[in-house]
Parts: sequence; C-alpha cells; structure tokens
Amino acid sequence: MKVISKIKLPVEKEMELFEKKFTQSMSSKVALLNRITHFIVNRKGKQMRPMFVFLVAKMVADGKVNERTYRGASVIELIHTATLVHDDVVDDSNRRRGFFSINALWKNKIAVLVGDYLLSKGLLLSIDNNDFDLLKIISVAVREMSEGELLQIEKARRLDITEEIYYEIIRQKTATLIAACCSLGAASVQPDSKEVERMRHFGELIGMAFQIKDDLFDYGNERIGKPTGIDIKEQKMTLPLIHVLNKISAKEKAWVINSVKNHNKDAKRVREVIDFVKEKGGLEYAVSKMQAFQQEALTMLEEYPPSPYKDSLILMVNYVIERKK
Ligand code: IPE
Ligand code: IPE
Ligand code: MG
Ligand code: MG
Repeated sequence: MKVISKIKLPVEKEMELFEKKFTQSMSSKVALLNRITHFIVNRKGKQMRPMFVFLVAKMVADGKVNERTYRGASVIELIHTATLVHDDVVDDSNRRRGFFSINALWKNKIAVLVGDYLLSKGLLLSIDNNDFDLLKIISVAVREMSEGELLQIEKARRLDITEEIYYEIIRQKTATLIAACCSLGAASVQPDSKEVERMRHFGELIGMAFQIKDDLFDYGNERIGKPTGIDIKEQKMTLPLIHVLNKISAKEKAWVINSVKNHNKDAKRVREVIDFVKEKGGLEYAVSKMQAFQQEALTMLEEYPPSPYKDSLILMVNYVIERKK
C-alpha cells in the first residue's frame, strides 16, 4: 500500500466527506468562476493540510471530530488554494499540479480575482457559522503568508538574505498555515485547551521541514508537477545557496551574486550556479536542517498515548521530507 493511503486510513471517511463539502464551498453563480473552480477541484493536490486537521483533531479527542472540524478543513484548503493561485502569478509560473496554472490558462487578471474569491469564500465559511475562534487562527495565518511572500520579494531585490531571514520567510509563508491546520484541528474539538498551542508549534516545525523540502525540489530534475530550477531565475535565494554563500571565497561569492543579479535569465549560467551549489554541499546542509525540524516535530508526539492517529501523524511527518512531489 502506498504510504499516503496508509496515512489516510484512520481519517478516510472524514476525507471523503470533506471532499464533497470542499467542492460545495466553492460554488458560484458566475459561470466563468464555476468553470475555473471545477478545473481546480479536478486537479486536486496532496490534500495534506486537511489530513493534518483531521488527524490532530482525532488524536487529541479520542477519535472524535465535529462540524467545526470539517469547516476548518475546508477553510484551510480554500485558503491554501487561493495562495497557490496567487503565488503562480507572483512567481510567473505556468505549471501547477502537473498541468497548466490558472494564470497560464486564464491570465493574471483572472487568477488574481479567483484567488480573492477563494479567500473570501473561506473566511465567510467561518463567519457564517460563528467559528470565530477558528477564524482568528486562520486570519493570523493569512496575514503571515502575505508578509512572508513580501519579505521574500524584498530580500530577492536586495540579494542580502541570511539564514535567519530565510527561516523567517518560510515560517511566515508556509509553516504558519500548517501550524494553523494543527492548532485548528485541536481547537475544533478542544477549544481553549493547551493542545491548541502545542499543536500549533508541532505544525510549525513540520511546515519548516516542508518548505525546505520544497526548495530542495527546485535543485532537482524530478518531475514534481511544477517547474524546477526557477528559484534562481526569480532571484529567490533558498537554504542551499545561502549556506554555500557563507562558506566560499570572496571571489566565488562575487561570481555567484553577479550571476543571480545580472544573469538570472541565462539558463546556462543558472545551471552553473546550481551545479556549484551542489558541488559545495548546499543540498546536504539543507537536508540536515530539514531533518532537525523533523526530529523536533517527532519528539513533540512522544507525549501522546498510542493511537492510529498518532501513528499516521508520525508517518505524515516522515512523508513531508521523503515525498516525491
Ligand atoms: C505547495 O504546497 C506550496 C508550498 C507551501 C510549498 P503543497 O505541496 O501542499 O501543494 P498541493 O496542494 O499538494 O498541490
Ligand atoms: C510557497 O511558495 C507558496 C506559498 C506559501 C504561498 P513557493 O513559491 O516556494 O511554492 P511553489 O514551489 O510555487 O509551490
Ligand atoms: Mg511559487
Ligand atoms: Mg513563491
């Protein structure tokens, strides 16, 4: 059995019902919007975020979930989808989930509006049901994600990113949403409990590992359903490159910076930088940092009693860093 199916097993029924609710949550009277949301639903992603919501809820509440858990999972996946639609505009990327991105098919104007629509549908799903505690968790994540994306652009312009700032960027743009999945999962079944903060921290650690893994994909040649080798082209410096910049000679550093600054659209030059980063051990370093976040997350699970949900969460933490897409 594939590991992802094994992870899903204890929340299989919930995920089935979730998919129905998630599809419904996007419907609109505008035909163009409906066409696009159908397209989105038909090319779904890994759905790791709703899985985190259900697994955490069931782990902290002896296998119970409620309507709030379902709504929370839908809101998170709506917001995740909205940020991907916007992110592909921001990154000028034409592929997503193994097919064309929304901006590639319908252009930026429409992608921006569709992203806003999905965001508003998510927020309203919480508001209309008085899930204000969950809405607070989600809104914090939305704010942080926007700040993270903007901080990343600011650093890409100045090319002065440090390892510390890199962690701050990925914490904001990616880890806060996975943190929100886990804290919301707990809050949906145990509001105001100490589990809410504990699970937020757990999710944040997973999110850090998750984005380091995503950034490592960009250095590979694997088919992952979205472009690889585009970060340097977009002047996005990620952990492998940042680490290498810190350990090379001034002359080598000048060559790397000049390449990223002035030759970032030159495919051959970008390839040379990628090879240089690999040669200097940039990937190994990023893998070791990713594993440190993974271990910290696994340690946090130790205090929970055995359950199928806990077992799946352990598999999920490992899947985050071993996944092939
Ligand atoms: C992609 O997230 C965006 C990042 C935070 C790196 P996923 O890899 O979870 O995307 P899908 O939903 O499975 O396509
Ligand atoms: C992750 O950013 C997306 C958001 C958190 C908004 P990236 O730009 O690194 O992710 P991919 O590689 O396009 O999925
Ligand atoms: Mg992107
Ligand atoms: Mg991006």
